[in-house]
Amino acid sequence: MKLWRAATLSLFIVIVIVTLVLFIQSGTPIKPVVINNTPVPPVPTSDPARLDQGAALYTQYCATCHGANLEGAPGWRKSLPDGSLPPPPHDGSGHTWHHPDSLLLDIIANGGDPAYNSKMPAFGDRMTKDEMIFILDFIKSKWGKQEREFQWWITVTQGNP
Ligand code: HEC
Repeated sequence: MKLWRAATLSLFIVIVIVTLVLFIQSGTPIKPVVINNTPVPPVPTSDPARLDQGAALYTQYCATCHGANLEGAPGWRKSLPDGSLPPPPHDGSGHTWHHPDSLLLDIIANGGDPAYNSKMPAFGDRMTKDEMIFILDFIKSKWGKQEREFQWWITVTQGNP
C-alpha cells in the first residue's frame, strides 16, 4: 500500500514538472487585442529605417504647420475667422489616431476638404505613397499603446491603404 502511494506521488510530481517545463517553454502567450468584440491582429512593429525616413520627411514637409514635436497649432480646436481649422497635433493628444490609414493617406495626398476652407495642402504631386506611409509610421511611433491599437483596429476594419 505504501509503495502504491509513493508511486502515485512520484507520478504526480513528474506531471507537475512536465507541465511547468512545457508552460515555460511555450513562452508567455500573446493575448490578441480585442476592440468592440473584434479580435485585431497584432499591431505591426515599425522598421527603424522607415521611421528615420518618416521623421526627415515630416520635418521637411509637415513640421511648419503641425509642429516640430507634432504638437499642432496653439488653440487648434477653435476655428479661425475664415472658418478653417488650425493644424491639429499628430501626437496622441490630437485626433489623427481616430482615422484609418485610408483616410489619412487620402488627406495627405489630396489635402483637406475645400468645403471647410481647409488649409491642409495636397502632397500627392510632391511625394510617393510610400513616403506618405513612412511619415504615418513616424507619427504612429509617437502614440501610446491604446491609440496605436485603436487606429490599427479602425484601419483593419475600415480600410487599409
Ligand atoms: C500649410 C500648413 C500645413 C502643412 C504644411 C501640413 N498640414 Fe496637415 N493640416 C493642416 C491643417 C490646417 C489641417 C486641419 C484641416 C482641416 O481639418 O480642415 C491639417 C490636417 C491634417 C490631417 C488630418 C488630421 C485629422 O486628425 O483629421 C492630416 C492627417 C495631416 N494634416 C497630415 C499632414 C502631413 C502628413 C503633412 C506633411 C506631409 C501635413 N499635414 C502638412 C495644415 C498643414
